[in-house]
Amino acid sequence: MSEKEILMQVRDLSVEYNTRLGEVSAVDNVSFEIYKGEILGLVGESGCGKSTMGKALMRMIQPPGKITSGQIIVNGEDIMAYDQKQMRDFRGRKVSMIFQDPMTSLNPVQRVDEHIIEAIQVHEPDTNTTEALARAQTLIQRLGIRKNRMKSYPHQLSGGMRQRVMVGLGLVLNADLIIADEATTSLDVIVEAQLADQLRDIRETFGVSLLVITHNIALVAELSDRLAVMYAGHIVEMGDVESVFDTPLHPYTKGLLKSIPNIKLDDTEKLYKMPGEPPNLTHPPAGCRFHPRCPFAMSICSQVEPEFSEIVPGRMVKCWLYLDHPDKEEATIEVTA
Ligand SMILES: Nc1ncnc2c1ncn2[C@@H]1O[C@H](COP(=O)(O)OP(=O)(O)OP(=O)(O)O)[C@@H](O)[C@H]1O
Ligand SMILES: [Mg+2]
Repeated sequence: MSEKEILMQVRDLSVEYNTRLGEVSAVDNVSFEIYKGEILGLVGESGCGKSTMGKALMRMIQPPGKITSGQIIVNGEDIMAYDQKQMRDFRGRKVSMIFQDPMTSLNPVQRVDEHIIEAIQVHEPDTNTTEALARAQTLIQRLGIRKNRMKSYPHQLSGGMRQRVMVGLGLVLNADLIIADEATTSLDVIVEAQLADQLRDIRETFGVSLLVITHNIALVAELSDRLAVMYAGHIVEMGDVESVFDTPLHPYTKGLLKSIPNIKLDDTEKLYKMPGEPPNLTHPPAGCRFHPRCPFAMSICSQVEPEFSEIVPGRMVKCWLYLDHPDKEEATIEVTA
């Protein structure tokens, strides 16, 4: 993508959950942007804050969670300043979110056409049913779903078809951004590959941006233009998917990529297991939150938090290995970026 136009600019976004055991710092001062028409993958271990971030972008964090700081700028406006009515309009019309399992998100007693008509009429109460049905039919055809499927109930559809209906519900109001949270977990590998193709087609046809949140790094490699890697509430690395895969910069990304099954791996090679566990986010480590698990950690890493910085054009990383600091010593192990 050469002419990159920003759709959403996120600045210093923080989200906390107020629990019995203390404040959980689930998203901490995160800044990034989503470009128009791009597919951005968001990956990271369980509990690192991916879903929290996705929901925060639509201001859908429920108590005990709370957005404690930040701006989310779309078309020059900070949606954090929107009132409830403006937010209702924003959700669906500008950004919509589809969730992990379409089988539980779709109402089992509603047919496909009823789902789509309802989605239109909730946002546009003046649209009559005939008009909404006509729009639903056009949409469903553009999504490559046969017209006779409009009368099907969710359980009568294949997994891939249900996913497409979910995406259709996201697109029905011409949203500019669809956030898909683990939308493929329940799919088998073949259907998953098909879905990756479909999502790419949908991006081409509708010019929509997609934020795909997943554990599935192989899918993201296949699907995304850019990749954001999250660790313990921070985005630690971001860049074009090929360049992140070819030369991961952050030690966490390196470990993450080494720990995924690879068909090229020969039988004698063991899959890498990252040492340690992700931190408890009520008491995240000082400095870089990854430093207790990092094979390259220096003393500065436990003291000062590194800025998320652009190291080479288009490549952002949050790591002292690539930044200067007066107190910085050399890493003990050579970095092979
Ligand atoms: N409703 C809640 N109340 C308290 N803590 C929460 C709540 N929801 C999430 N958290 C905490 O916030 C952190 C981030 O959770 P989140 O669900 O965003 O992670 P995730 O990356 O989406 O994980 P997964 O890959 O398992 O879906 C975790 O420490 C989690 O325990
Ligand atoms: Mg999640």
